[in-house]
Amino acid sequence: MTRALDVEEGTPCIVKTDRGYLQADNVILATQTPFLGRGGFHSKTKPSRSYAMALSVEDQIEGMYLNVEAPTRSIRPHPTDEGKTYLLVGGEGHAVGEEPDTSRRYAALESWARERFRVSSVDYQWSAQDYMPVDNVPFIGPIDTKARYIYVATGFLKWGMTHSMVAATILSDLIAGRRNEWLPVFDSRRDALLESPVESLLNGLETARQFATGKASSLFAGPPDDLRPGEATIVHVDGKKAAAYRDEAGKLHQVSATCTHLGCDVKWNTAEATWDCPCHGSRFNYDGSVIQGPAVDALDAVEEPPS
Ligand SMILES: Cc1cc2nc3c(=O)[nH]c(=O)nc-3n(C[C@H](O)[C@H](O)[C@H](O)COP(=O)(O)OP(=O)(O)OC[C@H]3O[C@@H](n4cnc5c(N)ncnc54)[C@H](O)[C@@H]3O)c2cc1C
Ligand code: FES
Repeated sequence: MTRALDVEEGTPCIVKTDRGYLQADNVILATQTPFLGRGGFHSKTKPSRSYAMALSVEDQIEGMYLNVEAPTRSIRPHPTDEGKTYLLVGGEGHAVGEEPDTSRRYAALESWARERFRVSSVDYQWSAQDYMPVDNVPFIGPIDTKARYIYVATGFLKWGMTHSMVAATILSDLIAGRRNEWLPVFDSRRDALLESPVESLLNGLETARQFATGKASSLFAGPPDDLRPGEATIVHVDGKKAAAYRDEAGKLHQVSATCTHLGCDVKWNTAEATWDCPCHGSRFNYDGSVIQGPAVDALDAVEEPPS
């Protein structure tokens, strides 16, 4: 993948990537959450993870269903080209970084499915995240009030298949200079913080809490020697906080625990074996490389001091 790192607005816009520069008349940031700081979307949305499984079942599944009570569960059949039909089960959403053992979320989905269907095997499982706007409406349009050529589509609320179509319609109209009657509803320049003060305050407090607890908990970090294969923790190495992971072959990987976006401490995601940032949802591989933004820079490797 070619990762975009920055965009300089102008005529043309210059997109800096990890493989060179691109020029474009208009740039749309459809990167789930924008990696540019403009527009304040990191305060107006919060990242939420969800889990899904593809199961082989002995029951006939027809139709798609989404429950109304908590915890959320969705089910649907998925026919394959080979003539097999999987049951897809989704749910277990939670704020990124909130769950100390994400594997439990898969276990909860599986046991819910086994109580209701004759499950013969769990064939696939995966998790992903999306951004929830504080006022429950996606942000689509110019990235901020000064923007002329940079656009954004974010905060799809886990309904990206529908909202991406809305975004495509609005943004193509804006770029072509046409009027779009839905722009006032989704306008990315609206003051969502002012319109939803309580949700915005809670979102801000939660980010501040994640920042503070991350810094405080790492003060008590222990040594990495006790880590068994497959385990990870935050440690202190030569006065620096490090995110340490011992791989299945026993090799220790240590990278900076400080997210390169705005400095929160990352947390270990047990099911995906990644370092996830609870503040705005950046995700990093155990070697520090970026999996998902808004961060665009890797976590630095942390070397053991010579003994
Ligand atoms: C378990 C689960 C079930 C869901 N089920 C449904 C459903 O039934 N119906 C529905 O409508 N929605 C569903 N959703 C939500 C839907 O998947 C999302 O809303 C949608 O994918 C978000 O679209 P997006 O374009 O914002 O981000 P993405 O689909 O994540 O696309 C962003 C793209 O940008 C790329 N990117 C990111 N940063 C950079 C960068 N710096 N440079 C270059 N590229 C970059 C990424 O690699 C990625 O390809 C579900 C989500 C989850 C997690
Ligand atoms: S994603 Fe913003 S501080 Fe980590």
